[in-house]
Amino acid sequence: MRWSAIVTSCVVVAGSVMAMALSRAAPAPTAATSTFATSPIYGLSLPKGYRQWQLVGVAQEAGALNELRAVVGNTTALQAYRAGTLPFPDGTVLVKLAWKRKQSSEFGLAFVPGAPTTVQVMVKDSKRYAATGGWGFGRFIDGKPADETQHRTCFACHSTNVQGHDLVFTRFVP
Ligand code: HEC
Repeated sequence: MRWSAIVTSCVVVAGSVMAMALSRAAPAPTAATSTFATSPIYGLSLPKGYRQWQLVGVAQEAGALNELRAVVGNTTALQAYRAGTLPFPDGTVLVKLAWKRKQSSEFGLAFVPGAPTTVQVMVKDSKRYAATGGWGFGRFIDGKPADETQHRTCFACHSTNVQGHDLVFTRFVP
């Protein structure tokens, strides 16, 4: 073997060892998450596949935000809603999608979703989130978690207003 060939193969080996080391260093995504970015305080990611989940209910914010919202849930959430189970069991995940509310350009009396604004998540884990009623919270804008200040507001509002419904506002729409 010529020197140049030996040097080349050494470089290739060194390169692949380095690639292996790098791939080990990066945390592998778990089945439950689609992104590495997690919410402050609660450490939540956007759940994988939530866009395929079933609808729980819809809402409109008619104030300054002027938004349309849809709340979807995973299988555990939907089972609990259908059976009227309260509190929601561990493993319940609820996701709220929100868009600017805009007038349809095709039909004046219709209001439709415009630009997406936030995606918010609530995960029930009574041990991990014992200090916040068993719920972890996450707010994402363009797929990235919002800051800690915003995450301080979640439990405060939910626990004040819907104490009697396990901190969950949205009721199941038929
Ligand atoms: C000032 C009150 C308020 C604050 C603060 C708030 N929420 Fe909510 N949240 C609501 C209301 C009201 C609803 C019901 C749906 C709607 O009106 O949009 C809701 C619904 C939700 C839902 C759907 C489940 C449910 O309870 O209906 C999720 C998920 C959610 N919020 C996450 C969050 C997260 C995450 C934060 C913090 C970053 C947060 N919320 C902060 C009022 C609040």
